[in-house]
Amino acid sequence: MPPMRIEIVPDDATLASRAADAICEAVRQKPDAALGLPTGHTPILTYRELQLRQDAGEISFARATAWAIDEFADATRTTPGTNTVFYREHLRLNLGALHVPNPGAAGPTEHIRAFADALRRAGGLDLCVLGIGRNGHVAFNEPGSPVDAPARVVNLKAVSRAAHAATFGSLGRVPHRGMTLGMADILEARKILVLAHGAHKATVVAAAIEGPQTADIPASWLQVHDDVTWIIDDAAASALTRNAKQPRG
Ligand code: PGA
Repeated sequence: MPPMRIEIVPDDATLASRAADAICEAVRQKPDAALGLPTGHTPILTYRELQLRQDAGEISFARATAWAIDEFADATRTTPGTNTVFYREHLRLNLGALHVPNPGAAGPTEHIRAFADALRRAGGLDLCVLGIGRNGHVAFNEPGSPVDAPARVVNLKAVSRAAHAATFGSLGRVPHRGMTLGMADILEARKILVLAHGAHKATVVAAAIEGPQTADIPASWLQVHDDVTWIIDDAAASALTRNAKQPRG
């Protein structure tokens, strides 16, 4: 297995620009690429950068499709804080299609299974972009998720709910359940790009990259994939030991 590539960048703007480079490259190579796209604070500047490049005519996403990697359950399509609302606000790209699970689905288990089946039938993800939660989650694969975890409904950990309190308006409004592509679905992507910034991610980034493969840190399962690139800022890279001396890309 080739080692994961680690690119350490000095600041948010460089992170966004390098991540946008990688996403644009995937779409240039395959204009109808299927992209898994995360939500959260981390990718917001990247999406803005993609929008700028699109609006400048440097790239077209018109044939590309985007797939959400997770969504809250027990909400509606207009509930502030849901990923549906996030994409509407932050992902201003003219995409061929954007597929997001319905946070108001009456049967979330069947709904997310059907969503993952539709993704598989469409050919799977060419590039899956991910963030990493403080507790090592990727999408809503919370600690305890095995490497072959399927798409499913999960009970969100307290730390994950707390991270979303502001966008939902209060902790009490954050749903207790989420729907997620499984580790298995994510690891089927042909390429994976993980983004992390900030000192609060340093410990978990080091565990995911340099620690053992374990369900305790679901992001550590990315080590089994043969085409993973991490783009992380200096602060998020500060607890790395083996990779600390790599030059910046
Ligand atoms: P963040 O979320 O980008 O808001 O830190 C990352 C995640 O939980 O996947």
